[in-house]
Amino acid sequence: MIHKTVNIPPLRHLAIIMDGNGRWAEARGLPRVAGHQQGVRTVVEIVDECVLQQISYLTLFAFSSENWGRPEAEVETLMALLLEFLASQRQRMLQDGVRLRVIGDRERLSVKVRNALDSAEQETLSGDKLMLTLALSYGGRDEIVRAARRLARKVAAGELAPEEIGATEFNANLDTAGVPDPDLLIRTSGELRISNFLLWQLAYAELYFVDAYWPDFGPVELRLALESYRQRRRRFGLTAEQTAEGEGLSNSAS
Ligand code: FPP
Repeated sequence: MIHKTVNIPPLRHLAIIMDGNGRWAEARGLPRVAGHQQGVRTVVEIVDECVLQQISYLTLFAFSSENWGRPEAEVETLMALLLEFLASQRQRMLQDGVRLRVIGDRERLSVKVRNALDSAEQETLSGDKLMLTLALSYGGRDEIVRAARRLARKVAAGELAPEEIGATEFNANLDTAGVPDPDLLIRTSGELRISNFLLWQLAYAELYFVDAYWPDFGPVELRLALESYRQRRRRFGLTAEQTAEGEGLSNSAS
């Protein structure tokens, strides 16, 4: 009997909904801010592990459009932690070849945060190991609306015909333009939702839900998720026979 070797290409793009910071803190009788602080430590560990695992793109849901509705003090803490993260990780990102990129509605962020993000993006432009995308003030529906507006403006300016708008053109007008779709989405804290994250881009992503709160999620848990991904068979709407024949489709990102 001839055994066919199925070549599973490595995962290129990992997206994560980092959930459960508040519950992690509450379970310990600590203020919510302690959960977010611990959450930043997890971010640092997971970025390192992604570099180690040769994952090319990591997208983290750091602050949603809806998170603006949280108590002002919590929003301020999250923004302060973001600024601290950018300052403390700058050197490390440069050393490790990490390129930072931000998606979301920047206009709602303070000038101070925007400037810090702009500088970090500029300084890390040449990072070619891992593209770390932070989704900030981000909502999937917002992003789709922004893309539709960009396209409408181009049509109105006579630069584009409506017939030219297809999935490729649409993709190119999203905040994530140029980045391949996520292969795997992880959500921590046991919630089974995608909560307005990368609605367009997650169309064919494999989903992985884990009970651990984000502060308790570490390299070991990440490796388990990657192992689970490697066991999956991605069919992209085709039959199992078709994807077995076209080995390239099995677990390849497209
Ligand atoms: C969800 O926990 C997490 C957030 C809303 C923010 C995620 C932010 C960080 C991990 C820190 C900042 C990030 C960077 C990149 C510096 P939750 O507060 O919704 O937890 P809960 O559902 O248990 O209340």
